[in-house]
Formats: sequence, C-alpha cells, structure tokens
Amino acid sequence: MKDKVALVTGSSRGIGNAIARKCAEAGADIVINYRRGTGSSLKQAETLAMDVEAMGRRAFLIQADISSRDSVKQLFADIKEKAGRLDYLVLNAAKAPFKPIDKLLERELRQLVDTNYLGNIFCLQSAVPLLKESKGKIVFISSLGSRFYNPAYPLGSMKAAMESVVRDSAETLRDRGIAVNAVCGGIVKTDSFKVLRQYWENLDLLPEELFVEPEEIADAALFLCSDAAKGISGQTIIVDRGLSNSLYR
Ligand SMILES: NC(=O)c1ccc[n+]([C@@H]2O[C@H](COP(=O)([O-])OP(=O)(O)OC[C@H]3O[C@@H](n4cnc5c(N)ncnc54)[C@H](OP(=O)(O)O)[C@@H]3O)[C@@H](O)[C@H]2O)c1
Repeated sequence: MKDKVALVTGSSRGIGNAIARKCAEAGADIVINYRRGTGSSLKQAETLAMDVEAMGRRAFLIQADISSRDSVKQLFADIKEKAGRLDYLVLNAAKAPFKPIDKLLERELRQLVDTNYLGNIFCLQSAVPLLKESKGKIVFISSLGSRFYNPAYPLGSMKAAMESVVRDSAETLRDRGIAVNAVCGGIVKTDSFKVLRQYWENLDLLPEELFVEPEEIADAALFLCSDAAKGISGQTIIVDRGLSNSLYR
C-alpha cells in the first residue's frame, strides 16, 4: 500500500481503527473519519492520527456523518484537496439500535437505513471518480446478522442489503477497474459488543476462542485490497473463527 491513500469510515474506534492501523503499517496514508466531533471519539481519532504519523505516513482527520449526503460530498472534496487521490474505500461505519424490528420507532428506522444503507451508498458513489483514477478497491464490513437471526439486531437486514449492493456494484464498477468485496465478521469485543451482550442471552457463555480480534477482520480487509485478491469480485468472505459453522437454535 506504499504511497496509496485509504479512507476507513468510522475509524475512530473498534474495527475501523484496527483496519486504519494495518493500512498505515502497510504503507498507506490514512483518511480517518468519525461522526462525533467531541469526546472520546475525537480523542481516539486524534491518537490514531498521531500513531499513523509516527509510522511516517500522512493522516487526514475528517469528521463527517455518512448518513448526510452533503457531509459525504464535503468528505470527498476534502480528500481530493488534501490527499489528492484515493485507492481504498473501507465502508466500516455503522450505527444502529439494538431492538426487535417491531419495536423500532420511526426515528430509529430512519437512522438504521440512513447510516447503514444510504450512507454507505453515498460514500460509494462519491468515491467512484477518485477510485476510477487509481483502479481502487472497495471493501464493505458486514456481520453475521446478514444471514442469521438475532432478536435485537435490526442492523442485520441492512448488512444483508449491503452484501447485495457489494455484488451488484462489483459488476457495475467492473468497467471502471474498481473491485468491490466484503468481509463478514463474527463477534468482536468492541464498544458495540458491550451493548449487544445486554440483549443476547448466553452470549457470555461463548468460548473465548470464538471471539474474533479486530485485527483479524483488518487482515481480511487488507487481503481484499491486495493484488492477491484480483480473482475475487462481489464476494463476502466470512471471518468468524468458525462460529457460523455450528450456529443452531
Ligand atoms: N463488533 C462486532 O462484533 C462486529 C462484528 C462484525 C461486524 N461488525 C461491523 O464492523 C463495523 C465496526 O464495528 P465496531 O464494533 O468497531 O463499531 P463501533 O465500535 O461502534 O465504532 C463505530 C465507528 O463508526 C463511526 N460511525 C458511526 N456512525 C457514523 C456515521 N453516521 N458517520 C461516520 N462514522 C460513523 C463511529 O464514530 P463515532 O465514534 O464518532 O460515533 C465509530 O468510529 C460495523 O460495520 C459493524 O457492523 C462489528
């Protein structure tokens, strides 16, 4: 990734932070994006930026809410102006309530769709002109909720929709030399896990070896960004330490 530029949406914390670090270790300059311009999110984003710069790479801190089309337009205008190019778009940001679908308020339903479906598509559309220039790659971060039921995980339906968008856009963008794939992660102990465990009975009984480290998702994302993945198009690779092999009710 030497001298390439990677944008990781939602990279202030968790899995996005791990992906950004790995991309920088591999030689890329990093666009660090986050939603909240205050508090711990900003602090963690700033720490990441310092760490990236300590690796000898450039770090561009850009606050933007991907659910807003105007905010996404500004994000990509800033990338063009400050970084001058884009080689990798990692669609990692997500935000959703943990609630059964029949209990979601209209405001929560709209947030679900606006951030996790429309927001990703706004980013994808805005990235095309830059990625066309670089023959770049798009990697979407999905989760097992795309294919397995969980009583309090409406985000799963958005992940399923996005895996379908990954397949469709891989074909749509093929003639522009842009590759699109996804990594579907198992259960990772990030901030969102702390909330998930309140709604998932017996989650704490899961053997420790079935929890995925953020760096394992990052490794798969980097693989999909590499030339070694040139034969893979429109696919979703599962990284769950085999958890889904033995899921049963
Ligand atoms: N944790 C898991 O078990 C797991 C498993 C498989 C897949 N995943 C997927 O991996 C991705 C990262 O998960 P995580 O657990 O690391 O999440 P997390 O700890 O909750 O972090 C989410 C990140 O996304 C950002 N974000 C949220 N809404 C945004 C918006 N509208 N615009 C821009 N940035 C926004 C957050 O910024 P702020 O800090 O400013 O809010 C934060 O940086 C998600 O797509 C998630 O579905 C997670």
